[in-house]
Amino acid sequence: MSKKAYITTPIYYVNDIPHIGHAYTTIIADSLARFYRLKGYDTFFLTGTDEHGQKIEQAAAARGKSAKEYADEVSAKFKALWDDFEISYDYFIRTTDENHKLGAQKAFETMFKNGDIYKGEYEGHYCVSCETFFTDSQLINNEYCPDCGKITTLVKEESYFFRLSAYQDKLLKWYEEVDDCVMPKAKKNEVINFVKQGLRDLSITRASFDWGIKLPPFLGDSKHVLYVWLDALVNYISALGYGTDEKNFSYWPASFHLVGKDILRFHSIYWPAFLMSLNLPLPKHIAAHGWWTRNGEKMSKSKGNVVNPREVAEVYGLENFRYFLLREVPFGQDGDFSQKALIDRINSDLGNELGNLLNRIIGMSGKYNNYELISSSVLKFYKKDIDTADAILSNAESFIHELQTNKYLEEIWKVLTIANQSITLYEPWTKIKEGKLEEANAIVALSANLLAKASILFSPIMPKTAQTIAKSLGFELDTKSYEKLIINKELLDTTVITPTAPLFPRIEKELMNTPEPAIKEAKKDEQLISADKFFNSKIQVGTIIKAEPIEKSDRLLKVFVDIGEEKPRQILSAIKAYYDAKTLEGMQVCVVANLKPAKIMGFDSYGMILTAEDKNGITLITPQNLKDVGSIIK
Ligand code: MSP
Repeated sequence: MSKKAYITTPIYYVNDIPHIGHAYTTIIADSLARFYRLKGYDTFFLTGTDEHGQKIEQAAAARGKSAKEYADEVSAKFKALWDDFEISYDYFIRTTDENHKLGAQKAFETMFKNGDIYKGEYEGHYCVSCETFFTDSQLINNEYCPDCGKITTLVKEESYFFRLSAYQDKLLKWYEEVDDCVMPKAKKNEVINFVKQGLRDLSITRASFDWGIKLPPFLGDSKHVLYVWLDALVNYISALGYGTDEKNFSYWPASFHLVGKDILRFHSIYWPAFLMSLNLPLPKHIAAHGWWTRNGEKMSKSKGNVVNPREVAEVYGLENFRYFLLREVPFGQDGDFSQKALIDRINSDLGNELGNLLNRIIGMSGKYNNYELISSSVLKFYKKDIDTADAILSNAESFIHELQTNKYLEEIWKVLTIANQSITLYEPWTKIKEGKLEEANAIVALSANLLAKASILFSPIMPKTAQTIAKSLGFELDTKSYEKLIINKELLDTTVITPTAPLFPRIEKELMNTPEPAIKEAKKDEQLISADKFFNSKIQVGTIIKAEPIEKSDRLLKVFVDIGEEKPRQILSAIKAYYDAKTLEGMQVCVVANLKPAKIMGFDSYGMILTAEDKNGITLITPQNLKDVGSIIK
């Protein structure tokens, strides 16, 4: 029976369209899955979408759609992109699938019956954008999310808890015993330090909204839905039939869970603890990659600098994009996307090194031997070069197991350099002049064999390019040729070369204009803001304590508003033309309380009072009934 490999991507939230970060994770995972298939492993590659939770519910509401309707729409966009990118997934899971729901309920029930779940009350802060609970001490300035910086909401509700604290020692033991269970090392150390600080039990249900999976029926408690991270993590086993049809369950445990660094904690702490509670084996590797920025800046919709992977692939070529993503950054570190860096890689590594090599081989074999490629005399003249290359290539494999795809490609490219240099150094044209035809052909065959070996190994990253090269050199690119040329270090049989068009035409200038379609797409959405964005503003009811005119200004009043803090806020408001300062005392207004302080005409202003303006002028907005000062407006 062949060995099995199970590779997963995170399941993507359906609150937004796919961007380069999603494409990066998926392309690494796809390359890894293709690598295992090349080695003859029976491989299962999973991706999909994460569709429940408050964030999705709010994103849908902001667009006037039902959560399911919106999830269907965005999930289809992810699937279509992966299909167009020829991502070789075996299964695309959606957390709204019936089988997943059953799997998640089964997991809850099993953990409950194993004594790891109890009912209590949760009181604390929640970041909807990260779908994460935070304690007071974790927050920035008492209310902002330490991960994304957005404002959190205070939650107080009945909740079921998972006894995460009971797993602290078991987790630490696992990290200690299994060296590469979490990769890379630096990230693993961060996880260990976090766990050592102490784990609290985890709230795993929510009772204040209902866009989620219901608790298993045996509990008879319909108030709660599963916490979206429990729901999401279970996808890795429900996709294999956990709780339903377990015929694919033999793929478990996962060989690699690929994740971004922002979601490593969920994967390396919660997930293994859940699995321990379920008495299931733990994943072999959880590997966290870094983040992509654009021209050195964080990508965000509001900046309009989000890289649209579809556009990059259309303009620069999908395989070139894949090569760039996997070659440009060391795994685990952040990377920067710029058209310049991409063009440099295409022109230099791909065009000069790889494309030229193929052209030279085609040209020489046509000229010297009517396109026939005879490898039999390579070892007679150039064994040393073949041996050096074979040694490099067998060493390269260890890098892909560590997900160091940049080093893996670097090693393979060393072999292409040897091939190019051997042509320059051994000068087949001189051998021809000297009448040494066998030796001249051996040089061509030497470089062609090096190219063939290199192509087999980069085929998981650039499958189409490798296929084109294999076709041109006249061999089948499959597990058999991997075993023959890489494992057994043999050479190609005699083949006939088929000329092919240059693979990497030179790119002279940046091909994506500004504004790019990616930006236009973001702009189109920009008129609509997401619910989370709105909830970033903290608007509160306040009572005006006093107001006074600012002498030198026709527009401004200095207003003191009580919003339930220690002292009233001083806010400058441009309402002088419409209100007499003396009449304002006692009036209730709406205050944007989390604005950055500003200096206006030499006075500090701490917030903004909301007004409405039409052709008749400005009016203050006031609550319909008297409300407690500090009441939140939403
Ligand atoms: N739904 C959760 C994952 C649940 S897995 C059981 C989630 N989804 S996500 O859509 O927000 O993010 C998915 C992945 O995209 C994460 O691994 C994240 O790190 C990655 N990226 C999001 N933005 C990114 C960049 N700018 N750069 C690189 N990857 C980034 O989290």
